[in-house]
Amino acid sequence: MSGQARVAVITGGAQGIGRRTAELLAERGWRIAILDLQEPAATIRAIETRGGEALGYVGDACVEEVVDRFTEVVFERYGRVDALVNNAGISLIRAAEETTAGEYRRVMEVNLVAPFLMARAFGRRMLEARRGSIINVASIAGLMAVSDRAAYNASKHGLIGLTRTLAAEWGGRGVRVNAVCPGWVKTEMDAADQVGGSYTDADITGRVPMGRFASPDDVARAIAFLADEGESGFVNGHTLSVDGGWAADASWESVRLRKR
Ligand SMILES: NC(=O)c1ccc[n+]([C@@H]2O[C@H](COP(=O)([O-])OP(=O)(O)OC[C@H]3O[C@@H](n4cnc5c(N)ncnc54)[C@H](O)[C@@H]3O)[C@@H](O)[C@H]2O)c1
Repeated sequence: MSGQARVAVITGGAQGIGRRTAELLAERGWRIAILDLQEPAATIRAIETRGGEALGYVGDACVEEVVDRFTEVVFERYGRVDALVNNAGISLIRAAEETTAGEYRRVMEVNLVAPFLMARAFGRRMLEARRGSIINVASIAGLMAVSDRAAYNASKHGLIGLTRTLAAEWGGRGVRVNAVCPGWVKTEMDAADQVGGSYTDADITGRVPMGRFASPDDVARAIAFLADEGESGFVNGHTLSVDGGWAADASWESVRLRKR
């Protein structure tokens, strides 16, 4: 593969949305670098099997030294970065009055501090090159409230604020910053969240105008659009919902279900 091929950095690429995003971008010729708490071996194998190129780095995206070392590793290997996808995130389903300070802080660290550290580290390189695209994976929980998710909702609302701020600050130097807001997606996160019994598949499909969950591929395609300068070169500071119409729909349930 050409040394000129574009490079995408993705956090949380070992599974779920991050994995599908890594695979899709690799299918489109990007070289991939993944930072994850878990070894992203399966993702890398899937990419290499199809002739793509990927590197994996195990570490916590909340830790400044990890992010800085990972940035060096990416530049030693590839010498450039064209897109950063801040995808790693954790959920916490807990009544607000029962959420501990420690739980709240950890969600903020992973969902809001880590994207800042990653954007700062890779954004500096993009600003030097005067080009690049950063995509933050927020959620519809960054646009509206879902009960029992005070920390998660606040972190995702904050991530959209960070997106807009960086878009304003860096757009004039060629670095675009956008967010995607998935609705509910069938990933390991959803499986783990449903174990607690707080919702079922029917709760979600009943709420979504299009009547289904998002797939990781739905979200990956929106991310790929925002990553690609040729496709979205003047889109900056935007929040793109990938939710089948959830955030647009204020109908009550009986109306929505009658429309199917
Ligand atoms: N699944 C959904 O319904 C849904 C909906 C809206 C938004 N999102 C968001 O999409 C993103 C991906 O979600 P997913 O469902 O694929 O999640 P997932 O739990 O399936 O995968 C998340 C990945 O991130 C990694 N990770 C977690 N903390 C990390 C850290 N501190 N440093 C490095 N890596 C870390 C995990 O190891 C895992 O591989 C998250 O930001 C999530 O909030 C998910």
